[in-house]
Amino acid sequence: MFYSDELVEEIRSKNDIVDVVSRYVKIQKKGNSYFGLCPFHNEKSPSFSVSPNKQMFYCFGCGAGGNVYTFVMKYENYTFQEAMKLLADKAGVALPEVEYSEEAKKAQNKRNLLLEINKEAAKYFYYQLRAKQGENGMNYLKGRQLSDETMQKFGLGYANMSADDLCLYLKKKGYEDQLIIEAGLGTHDEKRGLHDKFWNRVMFPISDVNHRVIGFGGRVMGDAKPKYLNSPETSIFDKSRNLYGLNHARSSRRPYIILCEGYMDVISMHQAGFDCAVASLGTAFTSGQATLLKRYDKDIILAYDSDGAGTNAALRAIEILREVDLVGKVLNLKPHKDPDEFIKAEGMEAFEKRIAEAENSFFFEVRILSEKYRLDDPEEKTRFLTEVAKKILNFSEDVKRDSYIDAISDKYNVRNESLKKLVREYAAKAGDVQTAYKVKSGIQSKPNPEENKKKPQKLFLTYLVDHPKLYSKVKKYVSEDDFTEDIYKQVARRLFEDLGNGIVNPAGIINMFDDEEAHKEVSALFNTELAYLDTVQEEEKAFHDILYALKKNSLDYHNSMLGSDVEALAKVIKGKKDLEEISKIHISLED
Ligand code: GTP
Ligand code: MN
Repeated sequence: MFYSDELVEEIRSKNDIVDVVSRYVKIQKKGNSYFGLCPFHNEKSPSFSVSPNKQMFYCFGCGAGGNVYTFVMKYENYTFQEAMKLLADKAGVALPEVEYSEEAKKAQNKRNLLLEINKEAAKYFYYQLRAKQGENGMNYLKGRQLSDETMQKFGLGYANMSADDLCLYLKKKGYEDQLIIEAGLGTHDEKRGLHDKFWNRVMFPISDVNHRVIGFGGRVMGDAKPKYLNSPETSIFDKSRNLYGLNHARSSRRPYIILCEGYMDVISMHQAGFDCAVASLGTAFTSGQATLLKRYDKDIILAYDSDGAGTNAALRAIEILREVDLVGKVLNLKPHKDPDEFIKAEGMEAFEKRIAEAENSFFFEVRILSEKYRLDDPEEKTRFLTEVAKKILNFSEDVKRDSYIDAISDKYNVRNESLKKLVREYAAKAGDVQTAYKVKSGIQSKPNPEENKKKPQKLFLTYLVDHPKLYSKVKKYVSEDDFTEDIYKQVARRLFEDLGNGIVNPAGIINMFDDEEAHKEVSALFNTELAYLDTVQEEEKAFHDILYALKKNSLDYHNSMLGSDVEALAKVIKGKKDLEEISKIHISLED
């Protein structure tokens, strides 16, 4: 960390978390907290909470949590330093210039280094393309009708014929072999030593939404295989959570986002004025990418290749989009293969027209399904309609179901009542409509013994943060030694110290830790779900039980350490005494 703890805390306290989060996520007040749909996992009902009192966020669905820094880091995919810069600017605090000594440079975290080295490489490729040795690359891209402006917008470059020039360049800049290899810019073998991974290819830098280069796709200029070579995944390059072109598309004013398969398709659409085009990164569209798109609250228009593979990929993408409640439409590019070829052949106005005519994704699915049946055969048509009925069941709203039944019966020439009956029969078989509609959230917490030991420790800390006055009543019984996890111990030590000084600042405690995993764990400590209890008596009883369980668990733990820890005996003796006393006392929640 380059900044003082005081400055980190000052900037945190000047950025109200509700303020910051609501710039990104729609949240609504409910009781003491704000709730909304979690931006970090797919969900249909809000379990993402923001607490103004604690100045923390926590998702009861996926467990993401932390303070305002964690939020900005996670949402923007920022390093701590970048989040600090953004929040300092927002609060009007000037950050001191940090000196990057050789030492500090070495100590930089891996993410920063990877961002830097990718940026250097992008600059290098960019320069090569525009130099004499890049002529082949330039001719290739011009041959594909890209303008200088477009090449510049996408930072296109060229990896030249020489076998190790990039590696030499990067080494001269001070980067270590290991990092060059990890970033996927070089590889090492016995014969050649360290050498460039990309060789004689046109280079497409891949940026995250904040225009930072996180990887590359390199295309051969002829028919050699593989056509594209992509950077490997690194801690900054997660192929399932970034989209090519989104850095530009995020500020498009068009009311939809076009999702396609290829880098060239994205570039070609942007050049034709469709600045809302994005593509997945050489892999199939993922639910992480759907979550990312969900942030923009727009319809998605699929512009996948018009061949069989493209159609199958589109069908999968539609399902993934549906899981996050995004409406997809499908573009018909026929008789051309992909958006790039379509635009070259027919121009932007024809493309605009195809967008206006894009097909409802459900109709698209049904149409593709219908191609598997001979609809002039009554047997086959019945089977087809049965499949369609099953699909219609997936709509959870009655109105929607009815509208689709109407539309499909028109389209496929079947009596509305008959189709309705089929749907109803299926619903009966499936239990009911609601349960037939399964949401794949992938998150399911299972109780286990480890968790049972941690639970009272978490509950206890949450209770203290929610009711700080309790501390003075229990402090003679508890200490950091009652916590079994290292991170819990550190948090308890600091929390008890703060409470002793009359301070409650859970969000500040999070600053003690650097990495996101720790933030998540600490947030869970302060946001454990407490049972909803009606009366003060019940609450007092609950807290008493939690304290007892905490001490009992700690006693068991120290007992088990008797052989190996010389201090364990003293702790066991005090623990027994505490437990005995606790069982007799009454702790009031009031003053
Ligand atoms: P052009 O053929 O230059 O028009 O490129 P394209 O973007 O249209 O490519 P295509 O439709 O063949 O493939 C779509 C996307 O799949 C590409 O943009 C790449 O991300 C990925 N892809 C294609 N071929 C390969 C390959 O050989 N290896 C890898 N890793 N990815 C590929
Ligand atoms: Mn293409």
